[in-house]
Formats: sequence, C-alpha cells, structure tokens
Amino acid sequence: MKTYIVGNWKLNFTVGEASVYLHKLLQKLPNYRDVEVVVAPSTMALQPLSLQVDRHKIKLAAQNAFYRDYGAYTGETSFTQLYGVVDYCIIGHSERRYLFGEDDKMIAKKVEAAIRNKITPILCIGETESERAFGETADVIRDQLIGGLREVSEEDLDKVIVAYEPVWAISSAKSAKLASPDDVDEVVKLIRKTIEELYGKEAAENMPVLFGGSVNPSNAGGYLTVPGVNGLLAGSSSLILSQFIDIIDVAKRVQR
Ligand code: 13P
Repeated sequence: MKTYIVGNWKLNFTVGEASVYLHKLLQKLPNYRDVEVVVAPSTMALQPLSLQVDRHKIKLAAQNAFYRDYGAYTGETSFTQLYGVVDYCIIGHSERRYLFGEDDKMIAKKVEAAIRNKITPILCIGETESERAFGETADVIRDQLIGGLREVSEEDLDKVIVAYEPVWAISSAKSAKLASPDDVDEVVKLIRKTIEELYGKEAAENMPVLFGGSVNPSNAGGYLTVPGVNGLLAGSSSLILSQFIDIIDVAKRVQR
C-alpha cells in the first residue's frame, strides 16, 4: 500500500503564498512513486493551484465541502464544483466538528457526496482530552467511524481513507500532548477491528488509516512504523516547506 503524507494548511497562506509554496515543493520533491503527497490549501487557492500542480507528484485536497451539489446554500462549495479540481477532501476534521458544529449525520452525507463526485474522502475521527480521561475513547472512535461511514456501500468502502486525529494531540489544542506510538497502535487496531466487524477482514486490511496530531520530522518515523498506519496528516509542520519535505523523506525511508 502507498504511504500518504497529507499537509493540512488550515486557514493559512494567501493564494500567492500557496502558489509559491507549491512551486518550491514541486521543484524540490523527487518523484516518489510509493508516497502519495497531498496538500490541502484553503478553498480559494484550489482552482489556481490545480492549474499549477503536477498531479504525478502532488495531489490536492479540499479541507471541507458541502454535501448538496447545487442550490440555495449561501457560502458553501460543493463536491460537484470540486470535481476535477481536487482528488481528496478532508471530512469531519475535529475543527469542523467542534468549531462549526458538524455532527456524524452531516459528515456521513459529505462522505457520500465526495464518493459520488469521485473525490476520495479522508474521514477524520478522534477523541477529545476529556473523553479520553473518562475512558470513552473506544466508544467515540466506534461511533464516529460507524456514523461517518453510514452512507457508504460495501463496494465503495475502498474509496475511503480514515485519519485518526486525537483532538488532544493537535498542536492548536490548549495543552497539546504528543500521542505515543502505543496510543496510536491501540486506536488503529480498534479502527480496523470495527471495519472488520462491519465490512469484513479484507476491507479492514485494505483501508488506508492515517495518523495526525503534532506530527513533525522527528516523530514521523515512530508513527509510520506502527503496524497498520499508512500515512500522516500534518498541520503546523506542513506549513514549513523544509519540515514537510523532511516528513516525506522519512515516509520514503520507512516504507514497508
Ligand atoms: P497539527 O499537526 O498542527 O497538530 O495539526 C494536525 C491536524 O489537525 C491535521 O489535520
């Protein structure tokens, strides 16, 4: 399986800055066939960057989109509009869940709309610090996974990527802590077990599962060697070109 390195730029970079970053990344990045490099700029930058990018080297992801294709939905962008512009879309990021009130029902509709429009959803799931403290991690992970995949048919499951992002490990969290590779291992096993129960062993083995939360060039190797982790979703370190390239290099080195 490929290793995925995804940079989530969140609300950072003007279109000009994003374009300069992409230009430099394209120049510096060797063509690593087995590492799928993806960047997720803000919606505004997607169209111009899609004309600039070399898709053999780098793919684009949206950070969010709405599940209706057209209509009276002021301020939204649809997956239909993103068709041909991006290959991936991050869905259900904890910032969407907790700052913008997205629930599993809405997230499930977005996952369905992405697949329908030939965009690969990267479904983010993860427990908060207090959920973890109360021993609710397993329940939260199962609920968000089952909830987010509710509208996905068995034959479409191979079009989905899941990203485990513990909310307490994201660098913007007030008291962010680093997840240990053992923490990640435990939850990734639970994710695969849940998929196996729902869709069978083969589906569970074939689903790419990524990890995100304060990933940087020094800890990337540790996370990537956790069995069943197929890639990383980096936030703040993806904003620094040299760090993002270093993470991609680590992925190339530790590839199984
Ligand atoms: P950080 O890498 O800044 O912790 O962000 C993680 C994240 O939210 C990626 O989607």
